[in-house]
Amino acid sequence: MAGPDDESARRQQADLRSFGRRRGRKATARQRTLLDDLLPRVAIVPEQVAGLTANALPAAVFGTAVAEVWLEIGFGGGEHLLWQAHEHPDVGLIGCEPFEDGVVKVLSAMDGNGPKNIRLLADDVRPLLRALPAASLSRVFILFPDPWPKRRHAKRRLIDPAFVADLARVMRPGGQLRFATDIGDYARTALLSLNGNENFIWRAASPEDWRFRSEDWPGTRYEAKASREGRRSYYFRFCRR
Ligand SMILES: C[S@@+](CC[C@H](N)C(=O)[O-])C[C@H]1O[C@@H](n2cnc3c(N)ncnc32)[C@H](O)[C@@H]1O
Repeated sequence: MAGPDDESARRQQADLRSFGRRRGRKATARQRTLLDDLLPRVAIVPEQVAGLTANALPAAVFGTAVAEVWLEIGFGGGEHLLWQAHEHPDVGLIGCEPFEDGVVKVLSAMDGNGPKNIRLLADDVRPLLRALPAASLSRVFILFPDPWPKRRHAKRRLIDPAFVADLARVMRPGGQLRFATDIGDYARTALLSLNGNENFIWRAASPEDWRFRSEDWPGTRYEAKASREGRRSYYFRFCRR
């Protein structure tokens, strides 16, 4: 009979690649040192969290008593992740990003006297989501996931009903999911997936809710690029029931 590990391995194989390249420029010697020496010390891997309870997660991963655990998926250059970690020293932030240049940027900021409340997975978030304990995350950020605008590539978009079900499992009741995109069609399909899941509620009362981000939601590099290129961005906040 197939057990939970078999099921997880099957889903991992079925995951279509949702990200672009993993590497840009060749790492410099200092960047190599950050990747080889610092990354293993601040890394989080699915095997480390599998089997933990939600109450045990903060201490097991962050080593200190953090009040809540938040997750940023696809942090890119890390501006938003670093801002949140700085503003919320009592929160443990997990950042996932398969693009090595972005990981190096965050490692560089963490080195020395940088924030101690960040753990990194330099890889696809999905196996980690499946390994995390139920009801263990208070906030999840997905800011400008790869848009895959061509119709034949749309199936690579990260947010679909199965992914939303995984998010619902790991989020605490009352937790918040923040999602942004500059692609109207992605907003539409993501809203269908999120509104189609009974565990999420979108409390938007007026267009102000999705046209603007709040003060505790700093802009990202990708958002700035979209704006320079004349595309407006959409911002969504969903509550986990
Ligand atoms: C368009 S970029 C946006 C980066 C950043 N959030 C920003 O707003 O500037 C999307 C990022 O999501 C990452 N990504 C895509 N699929 C992912 C996955 N399955 N797990 C983690 N990160 C992923 C990509 O590597 C890429 O850096």
